[in-house]
Formats: sequence, structure tokens, C-alpha cells
Amino acid sequence: MDRREFLKNSCTACLSATALTAALSSCTPTRYISGIIGNDGLFVDANEFVTTQNGKPVYRSFVIIRNDALQYPVCVYRFGENEYSALWMRCTHQGTELQASGDRLQCTAHGSEFDNKGSVKTGPADRSLRSFPVTVSNNQLFIDMRAI
Ligand code: FES
Repeated sequence: MDRREFLKNSCTACLSATALTAALSSCTPTRYISGIIGNDGLFVDANEFVTTQNGKPVYRSFVIIRNDALQYPVCVYRFGENEYSALWMRCTHQGTELQASGDRLQCTAHGSEFDNKGSVKTGPADRSLRSFPVTVSNNQLFIDMRAI
């Protein structure tokens, strides 16, 4: 095998492994939790993001909080140990509840799409999603809902 062929085979193997990892992570079922209401916000155990794939612990990219006390669910994306975003799943166009799909939130009413930080990626919505500050302490998230 010459150098060029070796590099070509190596790159193909790397790309295949990367694609497989992405495909597997997108297969993780959506996790719905209720959270705990208190102190003007929601408490969520950071372990709610942990799942297993092939016997190994991995992190979900998001969980959805559905709670009877909330008019809409909140989608919480995990970017790192202390970095999260908490997004109100209400479309800023006409208020339809959004659907989470990977790193996007989509509106089935007229097709608006938002990224995992709440920014509009596809209209007709023209405003970002409402988001809430998230703080992490002792492996527990606090989502400050006072801004609702
Ligand atoms: S209500 Fe969401 S795009 Fe219109």
C-alpha cells in the first residue's frame, strides 16, 4: 500500500467512524422529565442527561421538561458540564408548541426552525425563543423561570 492509498483508507475509516457516532447519538430516545418546581424555577438532576450506548455512559444532547405547572415544555440542551441552554418550547411566530429534533426545535404549524440556543434558523418566526438562565451546583441544574 502506498502513502496516498494509506491516507485515503485512513480518512475513509475516520469519516465512517464519525458518521456512525453521529448516527448512534441521534438514535437516543428523547427523555421527558418533570423536574422539581421551587424557588422561582425548576431543579433538574444533571444525571438526567446520562444514558448508555454499547454499555458505555454517554450524554444526551437534550432533555425535555414537561410539568403540569408549565404552559409549555422547556427543552434543556447540554453543551458541557456547566453549560446548558433552557428554551421555552413556544414558537415565537404564533405560539405553537415546538418539536425537538437533534439540535433543532421545529414548528409544525408553518415550518419555523430554531437552533439549540434559541436563534431563528428558518422563518416565518423572526424572534429568538425565550430562554432561561441555568446555573449548576452539586450536579443539579437550576433553571431560573422568573422571566416567564
Ligand atoms: S406558529 Fe410556528 S411557524 Fe407559525
